[in-house]
Amino acid sequence: MLEAPGCALAPKQRADAMTAHTLQLIARPVGLPKDSDFALIEAAPREPAAGEITVAVSHLSLDPAMRVWMSDAKSYWPPVVLGEVMRAQGIGRVIASAVPSIPVGALVNGMVGAQSHYIGPAAGFSVLDLDLLKASGVPSPTWTLHALGATGMTAWFGLHDIGRIKPGETVLVSAAAGAVGSIAAQLAKQHGCRVIGVAGGAGKCAWLMDELKVDGAVDYRAGSIGAQISALAPKGIDVYFDNVGGEILDAALARLRRHARIVLCGGISQYNNTERAPGPSNYLAMISARATMQGFVVIDYFDRYKEFALAMGALIAQGKIVAREDIVDGLENFPAALRRLYQSQNLGKQLLKL
Ligand SMILES: NC(=O)c1ccc[n+]([C@@H]2O[C@H](COP(=O)([O-])OP(=O)(O)OC[C@H]3O[C@@H](n4cnc5c(N)ncnc54)[C@H](OP(=O)(O)O)[C@@H]3O)[C@@H](O)[C@H]2O)c1
Repeated sequence: MLEAPGCALAPKQRADAMTAHTLQLIARPVGLPKDSDFALIEAAPREPAAGEITVAVSHLSLDPAMRVWMSDAKSYWPPVVLGEVMRAQGIGRVIASAVPSIPVGALVNGMVGAQSHYIGPAAGFSVLDLDLLKASGVPSPTWTLHALGATGMTAWFGLHDIGRIKPGETVLVSAAAGAVGSIAAQLAKQHGCRVIGVAGGAGKCAWLMDELKVDGAVDYRAGSIGAQISALAPKGIDVYFDNVGGEILDAALARLRRHARIVLCGGISQYNNTERAPGPSNYLAMISARATMQGFVVIDYFDRYKEFALAMGALIAQGKIVAREDIVDGLENFPAALRRLYQSQNLGKQLLKL
C-alpha cells in the first residue's frame, strides 16, 4: 500500500510551535567532505509570506554532485554560499501555506535544502499526486526522488536522447549498482540492448546479474577492467553510459565500436580530487571509431517530465524496474550519508530520512 512517508511534524502543526534545524555549509571541503565542513544549527521558524510554503521535510536525496556544489568550481549551478543551508532535493508535507493551490497536508517534492523545515517560495515545487503514484504501483512517494524522479530522468534522457540506444546494441554502464546506473542498466535491457554493468565488488556484481538481470558484470576492483570488458563484449561497445570517469572511461574508450556514443553523465571518481585529474589517455580511439562523447545535465529535461513519467510509470507498473533505497537516518548524519557515495557504500539510491 502507498503510504505517505513519516514526517517530523503532523500536518496541522504551525510554524510557531516547531523546532527547526538547518545544516549549513561552513567550509569548502578539501578531498572527501568532513563533518566539520557543516554546522547543524537551530533555526528560527516564521510564518510563510505570500507565495511561500512551510514543508516538514521527510526525506532528502543524496547526490554525488553535492560535492561539486560545495566547491567553488564552475558548474551548471552556482556554488552553495558558505553559511547557507546545504542545497538538497527532498520531499515532505506542507504544514503551512500562503499559496492557494498548495493546501496544508499536501506532499511536495522540491529543493528543500538540508533542513528539517523549508520555509520559502513554492516556485519549483511539485505537489505529489498520490493516486497517480499508486496507479503506477510505486511503493512509496520516495520513488519520486529516484526511479520516478531526476535519477530516472537522467538515465532515461541520457540513454535515449544522448546515447540514442537501439535494440541489439551493446551498452556499458558504470556505477551500475548505484541510483542512476541501476535504472540505466534496466532501461537499456528493456529497450532490447545487451547490457554490461560495472560495479565495485563481487556482492554488487551479483546483484547486477541476479536482480537487474544484466548480461554481464565487470568488477572494477578485481583485475583488469579492460580485459573483463573485452571478454564480455568481444566486438566492442556501442554506447558507454559513464557515471565514473577515470580508469573505467579509459578502458571503455579503447573498446568502442564504429559510431559509438559516450554519454557523459558524471565522473564520481574525480569529484574529491585535490589536483586536476589527467585526461583520458585513450581518447584518440574516438577518431577511428567515429565516436561521439556528449555531456548533459538532467535539469535541461525537466520540462519533459510528463513524457518520462508516463513511460517510466508504465514500466514500474508492469514490475519491470527494480529500485533499491539505501536509507540513513537523521539530519546530523548528512555528511556521513554523503560520504557513502564516494566510498562506494551505497547500493541503489542513497536517501536521508529526517
Ligand atoms: N548529468 C546529470 O544530469 C546527472 C544527474 C544525476 C547524477 N549524475 C551523475 O551520475 C553519477 C551517479 O550518480 P548517482 O546519484 O546514481 O550515485 P550512485 O551511483 O548511487 O553512487 C555513487 C556510486 O559511484 C561509485 N563510485 C564512487 N567512487 C568511485 C570510483 N572512484 N570509481 C568507480 N566507482 C565509484 C560507487 O559504486 P561502486 O561500488 O560500483 O564503486 C558508488 O556507489 C554521478 O557521477 C553523478 O554526478 C549526473
